[in-house]
Amino acid sequence: MILITGSTGGLGKETINALLKLIPAQQIVALARDPEKAIDFSNAGITVKKGDYSSYESLPAAFSGVDKLLMVSAPAFSDQSLEVNTIRAAKDAGVKYIVYTGIQRKQGSTWVIPGVTERDLQMEKLLAASGMSYTIVHNALYLDVLPFLLGNSVIKKGVLFPSGTGRAAVATRSDLGEALARIIIAEHIYPQHITLSNSQSWSVTDIALLLSKITETDVPVIELSQDEYIAYQEQSGIPPFYAKFAADWAAAMKAGEFEETDPLLENILGRKPIGLETFLREMYKPLLQI
Ligand SMILES: NC(=O)c1ccc[n+]([C@@H]2O[C@H](COP(=O)([O-])OP(=O)(O)OC[C@H]3O[C@@H](n4cnc5c(N)ncnc54)[C@H](OP(=O)(O)O)[C@@H]3O)[C@@H](O)[C@H]2O)c1
Repeated sequence: MILITGSTGGLGKETINALLKLIPAQQIVALARDPEKAIDFSNAGITVKKGDYSSYESLPAAFSGVDKLLMVSAPAFSDQSLEVNTIRAAKDAGVKYIVYTGIQRKQGSTWVIPGVTERDLQMEKLLAASGMSYTIVHNALYLDVLPFLLGNSVIKKGVLFPSGTGRAAVATRSDLGEALARIIIAEHIYPQHITLSNSQSWSVTDIALLLSKITETDVPVIELSQDEYIAYQEQSGIPPFYAKFAADWAAAMKAGEFEETDPLLENILGRKPIGLETFLREMYKPLLQI
């Protein structure tokens, strides 16, 4: 049996939808804090188990009979006991292989994205000490979060994102989910650290050029400092906490944390991952037709 956590979230859903095309639903278990939210999966024949990373007691029964477990990382800034509970429960329940979704980082980097990278480092220690086989998948920055990072006025006001000349090998959650599905059902076990990033990387200049092409208007890049970007996001109605968090991702991009391309995602998918232009066309073209 294969269990996928985070089944009610973006990445977990994409992974399960991909799994449904690869193996019978009866071999899949979905973990949800609220099983009602995963009703579509129950209807598709998947066993939905209730469990919460924050409650150890809720997990061993949910993990019982599971051989391979994909743990979707908990939201940023959540308590670090969540990972401790989950790994302990997986070991106690006899899980043999864990795949964990972390964030991409540059080889050898010690860059910190507050609320994010320290969880990945903790997870590495927990998994190494657990004695279970594991793979930490360092996922690219999601293309899906770009609209949030760029803000609602990007077409009108330009690309205001303080990532300098930094590049990112961004990928969609749907491609990452499909690759994760293929990783968790593979007959072999993947290495302890792998990176799923796009086969190409892009900068804010590329984003502006593509948006200009797609919208047939001039979308400039406007260089902002971190503080100016935070103020700009707040003026657009984003709460200060999220504005600062978005700026932290920009700083990581500027530092090159997401720049490394890796052939693995393309190899696993057996095709080119969805790229920036396709994503931006699908995202912004409909807005122009309203
Ligand atoms: N690579 C990137 O660019 C990027 C960007 C953003 C986030 N991330 C990371 O990737 C993860 C997955 O992304 P996503 O887009 O799928 O996020 P998402 O849509 O917010 O989904 C998060 C999932 O985790 C579940 N969850 C939250 N707290 C939990 C708990 N205490 N116990 C069990 N399940 C819990 C949520 O369940 P509920 O439905 O019950 O809330 C939901 O199913 C995020 O959690 C975050 O760590 C990566």
